[in-house]
Amino acid sequence: MRREAPVHFDEQREMWDVFRYEDVKHVLKDHDAFTANRAFGADESAGSGDDMPMLQTMITTDPPEHDRLRGFVNDRFQPGAVREYQPQVEEMTKNLLNDLPDEGTFDFVDEFSIPLPVIVIAELLGIPDDRRDQFREWSNALVARPEDDTSEEIQRVQREQERAQKEMGRYFATLLAERQGGNGDDLITLAANTEALNRGERIGFCMLLLLAGNITTTNLLTNAIWAFEAHGVTDAVRTGEVDRQLAIEEVLRYRSPIQSLKRIATKDVELNNQQVQAGDVVTLWLGAANRDPEIFDAPETFRPERHPNRHIAFGTGVHFCLGAHLARMEADIALNYLLEHFERLDADLSELQPLNFLHGLESLPCEVR
Ligand code: HEM
Repeated sequence: MRREAPVHFDEQREMWDVFRYEDVKHVLKDHDAFTANRAFGADESAGSGDDMPMLQTMITTDPPEHDRLRGFVNDRFQPGAVREYQPQVEEMTKNLLNDLPDEGTFDFVDEFSIPLPVIVIAELLGIPDDRRDQFREWSNALVARPEDDTSEEIQRVQREQERAQKEMGRYFATLLAERQGGNGDDLITLAANTEALNRGERIGFCMLLLLAGNITTTNLLTNAIWAFEAHGVTDAVRTGEVDRQLAIEEVLRYRSPIQSLKRIATKDVELNNQQVQAGDVVTLWLGAANRDPEIFDAPETFRPERHPNRHIAFGTGVHFCLGAHLARMEADIALNYLLEHFERLDADLSELQPLNFLHGLESLPCEVR
């Protein structure tokens, strides 16, 4: 597809698919012609239909509004600021590892790669310890996919998502109100006291962090162990023979945790010789772009020492992932301590269960020593 129809209209889904690296990047950078606002063209007076205020967040907003919604927190995610969290992330990783069995089998996904990102975000937001399990449950419910395509199952998942969203929204609203005027350095206190956001936007910000930062980082950790084991480089990463940070970048390229993003054309525009019309939905395949042979040598090969590695697994343009530095640091610390902790991991690669829309695994049994 990338070679034969790099920009392709899918009649069934009634939307465009974009596969080439340069085209994907172009659309992401051209926020005038391609909006991130999912409601673009829809009847905006329709409202959300429930008791929650409309939760506008940076991820579905274009500049200049986008800059207001992101600007107040941007500094807190820059490399220097993120490095200050390092000791805490190390501590949380060690605690989690100490709870794992020293011998026998455990599920890497359930017992390590899901809980760690939840604990880290909960810490950044300043969520009390006794609500962290609840957090994990909300976060899972929000990204759950139907197990089959019967309408009962689809409706069940939708109801669960709505429930989780409401409960989480109410909980954040309470914490935001409690922390108004406070001087803590957690992100809820920061959001509660910024004049840049209104009440609904503050709640939306908290929910976005939880949503955007959890499953993605979970999948990065899982995909890293899967890729290291499948390509026989776990020991080389452990000993430092293969640079851990380069290897993480290659995992992001080779098994991008977010496979696709969507934009809507705001006007008629030409894209790689195709006429895209105002209102058309465009799916940007990050996973395909990150394997574009025009950009990457031997793109289908996992090369843990690939350098330079210009993957766009964190997106690009104004919506470039706010948490990219945090996710990289978390993965670096987690893999370092994990490989140090276990002499052998022996992941059972036969039981892979790929998740379709986000790229990860539902479980990854590991036999450790
Ligand atoms: C945006 C990927 C981890 C917070 C994005 C986007 C991508 C992405 C592709 C662009 C979305 C778009 O253009 O529509 C990832 C991956 C991660 C990760 C692969 C882990 C490996 C995190 C973490 C956080 C986070 C840990 C928060 C703590 C955000 C936010 C945005 C975003 C807030 C929206 C930025 C904006 O609209 O300006 N992420 N992310 N992400 N990410 Fe991440």
